[in-house]
Amino acid sequence: MLRKFSVLSFILAGVFASQAHAVQISKMGKDLTPEERATLKAMLPNAPEPKDDEFVHIPPSMADLEASNIHPKLKEAIKRGYDLFTNTQQLKGKNVFNNMNCVSCHMGEGRRPFAGPVWAAVVTLPDFRGKNGHVNNLEERIVGCFSFSMNGKPPEYGSDDMVALTAYHQWLAKGVPVYPDVKLYGRGYPKLKDPAEKPDFARGKALYEQNCAACHGENGAGLVQNGKVQFPALWGDDSFNWGAGAARVFTLAAFIKYNMPLGKAPSLTDQEAWDLAQYVDGQERPQDPRYTEDVKETRAKYEKTFHKDTLYGLEVNGKLLGNHKNVGHKDFLKPDALRSRDFSGQAK
Ligand code: HEC
Ligand code: HEC
Repeated sequence: MLRKFSVLSFILAGVFASQAHAVQISKMGKDLTPEERATLKAMLPNAPEPKDDEFVHIPPSMADLEASNIHPKLKEAIKRGYDLFTNTQQLKGKNVFNNMNCVSCHMGEGRRPFAGPVWAAVVTLPDFRGKNGHVNNLEERIVGCFSFSMNGKPPEYGSDDMVALTAYHQWLAKGVPVYPDVKLYGRGYPKLKDPAEKPDFARGKALYEQNCAACHGENGAGLVQNGKVQFPALWGDDSFNWGAGAARVFTLAAFIKYNMPLGKAPSLTDQEAWDLAQYVDGQERPQDPRYTEDVKETRAKYEKTFHKDTLYGLEVNGKLLGNHKNVGHKDFLKPDALRSRDFSGQAK
């Protein structure tokens, strides 16, 4: 077991290292200079290098924001969005009901390739989203992460907090073409190859105890000290709910492969990442806000668009997962912001 002091200083070292590489890059892989390639290599050791036909974007930093000549009031809005994105816990009990910050999963302030860089949403939305079956804009994409990943109740569309968050996302996208028709390097958590062997809960458990429990806890509950999230929860009431993207085993496997153990990734094999994801996503967590009062029915209803990739409604380790009414720390199941939309002119 690592002692707390060494764990924390290790994290701080990582934070400073990532700030040292805060240089904006926005160009096709084939146009990268040797210096830019070296910068990427230092930022993402062992990660796949950009291909010629991929667009590489390392967003401007907060220092670039200060130095830019945009309106001071816009700077304020972007800085407020940054503050909400990096310390989302300030909305706890209002919009957030677990111990996550946006940066718990969108690492490096939402700027880091292979860690769900959020600028990609700015340049590809509005678009149709299979998960909810209609056209979504940036605000609605953010609403999705509040409802599922933060097990919460999103800020109102058009509210000050929502405008600030979207302003921060849009600032990060500076220099990327809108609706690009090329691949975006390191977007999302790039999917790993199918595992050679079926992902295995028991193997995952052993790997977890060895590589992850020192920070995230044996019980996956993470660690909060003086109201500050040191290590986010991987399962249980303080974690993301059953409707969250990270509940899909392939998404979590990719997140783990490229980003964990913190400061050492990628160091696990693909198979190890798949086994770990099977273990973590094979644990209980708050109910899917789309729950119909019957876990099998809910799974079936969202099977095609979502649950085919989760363990929800399946028996794992002798337990039927998701068969409960526990909504975690909130007192409602589904936030009103989750609703359908129709632009055909045929809506009743
Ligand atoms: C538990 C992990 C987790 C947390 C916490 C989280 N997200 Fe996400 N987010 C995801 C996953 C998973 C995806 C889907 C990535 C993919 O498609 O591979 C995603 C996608 C996104 C996207 C779209 C990115 C793209 O490439 O189009 C945006 C924007 C976003 N999240 C914003 C937020 C905001 C804002 C917050 C905080 C309020 C937040 N997220 C919190 C896991 C999380
Ligand atoms: C040195 C401490 C440390 C170790 C070891 C570590 N993590 Fe993390 N992990 C973190 C921190 C800190 C974050 C939040 C990222 C941030 O804020 O930049 C995180 C975030 C995560 C997340 C996304 C947020 C959430 O709670 O769902 C997952 C999933 C995760 N880690 C899984 C793992 C797995 C699996 C391992 C073992 C292979 C592991 N971690 C090892 C510190 C650690």
